[in-house]
Amino acid sequence: MYMFLHSADLTEEVENAIMCGRNRAFPNHQSEYFYFKQMPYGVLFKEINNKIVGQCSVIYRCIRINETPYRIFGVCDLWVDEEFQNNGIASELLDELFSLSYEKSIDFNILIADRFDLYKKNNFHPFSANAQWLRINNHYNYGVASEYINDVMIRSINKIIKEDIINLDFLGEMF
Ligand SMILES: CC(C)(COP(=O)(O)OP(=O)(O)OC[C@H]1O[C@@H](n2cnc3c(N)ncnc32)[C@H](O)[C@@H]1OP(=O)(O)O)[C@@H](O)C(=O)NCCC(=O)NCCS
Repeated sequence: MYMFLHSADLTEEVENAIMCGRNRAFPNHQSEYFYFKQMPYGVLFKEINNKIVGQCSVIYRCIRINETPYRIFGVCDLWVDEEFQNNGIASELLDELFSLSYEKSIDFNILIADRFDLYKKNNFHPFSANAQWLRINNHYNYGVASEYINDVMIRSINKIIKEDIINLDFLGEMF
């Protein structure tokens, strides 16, 4: 079963399950919370026999691409427990996210990826841009970063961008 919950509605039990799952999946990025840098809008997760076996965090944000503001769902912390990997669960989570995004009149999904393969299979396209975002670490902010990045991916939901993407302002932390 796939479920979406707003962060404000998570029980302590669900927060703990997500914290443990994400810490197992990202050994170099441990966190005492169910999120890494900032509380997301919500979490989309898959349960099997009442156990959360995979999830992604959903960030609701207005970002600016070139000169235009867009309403996006950002994706971060996508993980699937090792014993359930390679069964299509991550792709199904991305499918669920597509439906949710469509229903909520979202323009695009945006994420940052180390590897593009999973996301390309799910209609995300990589691009490079001059990006700006707020640096956050352990609930401290370290000012605005401004760098050329080439590991961003975008998926069209209700809009299409016809121009080249030159500038991308996250208008908040990167996810
Ligand atoms: C990446 C991950 C979520 C995939 O979950 P999954 O349920 O096994 O994914 P699916 O079964 O839907 O698809 C499998 C595909 O994921 C791709 N994949 C595996 N690890 C990946 C990674 N770290 N980043 C991107 N894609 C990855 C593979 O190409 C595989 O495709 P293939 O079967 O054609 O080779 C899972 O391997 C995981 O939790 N890894 C640890 C956390 C992580 O690295 N998350 C990604 C952050 S960008």
